[in-house]
Amino acid sequence: MTERIRTQIGIVGGGPAGLMLSHLLHLAGIESVVVEARSRQHVEERVRAGVLEQGTVDLMIANGVGERLKRQGLVHRGIEVRFDGGGHRIDLSELTGGRTIMIYGQNEVVKDLTDARIAAGGQIFFECDDVRAAGLDAKPSITFMSAGELHEVTCDFIAGCDGFHGVCRPSIPAGALTTYERVYPFAWLGILAAVAPSSDELIYTSHERGFALHSMRSPELTRLYIQCAPDEPIENWPDEKIWDELSRRFATIDNWQLHRGPITQKGITPMRSFVVEPMQYGNLFLAGDAAHIVPPTGAKGLNLAITDVRVLARAFEEFYRSGSRVLLDGYSATCLRRVWKVQRFSWWMTSMLHRFDGDSAFDRRRQHAELDYVTSSRAAATSLAENYVGLPMDPV
Ligand code: FAD
Ligand code: DHB
Repeated sequence: MTERIRTQIGIVGGGPAGLMLSHLLHLAGIESVVVEARSRQHVEERVRAGVLEQGTVDLMIANGVGERLKRQGLVHRGIEVRFDGGGHRIDLSELTGGRTIMIYGQNEVVKDLTDARIAAGGQIFFECDDVRAAGLDAKPSITFMSAGELHEVTCDFIAGCDGFHGVCRPSIPAGALTTYERVYPFAWLGILAAVAPSSDELIYTSHERGFALHSMRSPELTRLYIQCAPDEPIENWPDEKIWDELSRRFATIDNWQLHRGPITQKGITPMRSFVVEPMQYGNLFLAGDAAHIVPPTGAKGLNLAITDVRVLARAFEEFYRSGSRVLLDGYSATCLRRVWKVQRFSWWMTSMLHRFDGDSAFDRRRQHAELDYVTSSRAAATSLAENYVGLPMDPV
């Protein structure tokens, strides 16, 4: 027996993009069904990004999913860029007319959105197998196995919010999309440690041995990243080795100390820049990591996913209100303008801060000059700051 479900928008993927889209559509009176491959617990516990742009925070608050964030999120007004054993503060707020960022884990965003959808009677199917998107040219449908039964969701449109390894992008016929990609010759090893952060602000460190980042999740939880070789087995990194390497990279001439504590989670993430154009085929619209990936150095992946679905939700709203496809037809071009600016920023931050093994002595000097410039010129620091706090959400 096939369980048949009819809805307006079929959403594949219950990460930040899929859930925020479903929530915004609900507020606009548009029905959707979310089909997620993993369990609710898995999605809610997955440790990933942690920096929310002010636009993302404002969007959550304006749409009734910002209560916990207002209580628990940590507002930051600056970041530190550290090199040559010295720290340089970039005053994000002062350089951008008062804008700020917020530290609030991606899994907390996912929890808040899942709770809101379920409280409103929204349909989210977790632990779905064999998910397929079909009928993209005419009558779209999503099929999947859930609780041992085949399900078929028929809908007007499909939103492919299923991340980089999802099924939606590969279901588009070969030749319809152009791919732009750069793979970096390193990865990030990320840890979560049950210890108070060693600084009130994020620290991006460029060191001869490689990049390191100090971040946090709460006054009791530190999040740290370290540049490592790509595809390196995690077993190569016992806890002591991680702490020793972090301490070396964060070391300053005035003897700054990194707090150590029990490591509760660790994982290695490869780094790439990736974009497909267009972000749409027939009645399928790609959003978030399904359409593009940025290296994490600018803290942009999650924020970009949220911006895409904001544009998409408005386009669906316009379609159901007036029958006009103008915004839907413009979806890809509208998003890509911002996507490419964010790609540029993420690539630039990555290039400035990481150690590239093949670099010549000239490249090293140029990289050093870039760090010196960005931390000593108000114009250069302002450019970093306006990108870091987030370019305007609204299409220009
Ligand atoms: P996702 O969060 O990937 O959500 C996609 C959802 O689709 C997932 O829940 C997945 O289970 C589901 N799915 C996948 N395939 C299927 C299928 N076939 N059927 C149904 N559902 C499916 N960004 C930063 O800014 N800083 C970071 O430190 C950082 N760390 C990261 C670490 C990792 C390991 C990864 C993978 C990403 C990281 N990112 C980071 C990027 C950031 O987390 C993403 O940009 C963000 O999650 C994008 O949201 P999304 O909803 O588009 O995709
Ligand atoms: C975090 C992740 C990032 O990629 C970044 O640039 C800053 C902070 C974080 O997980 O806290």
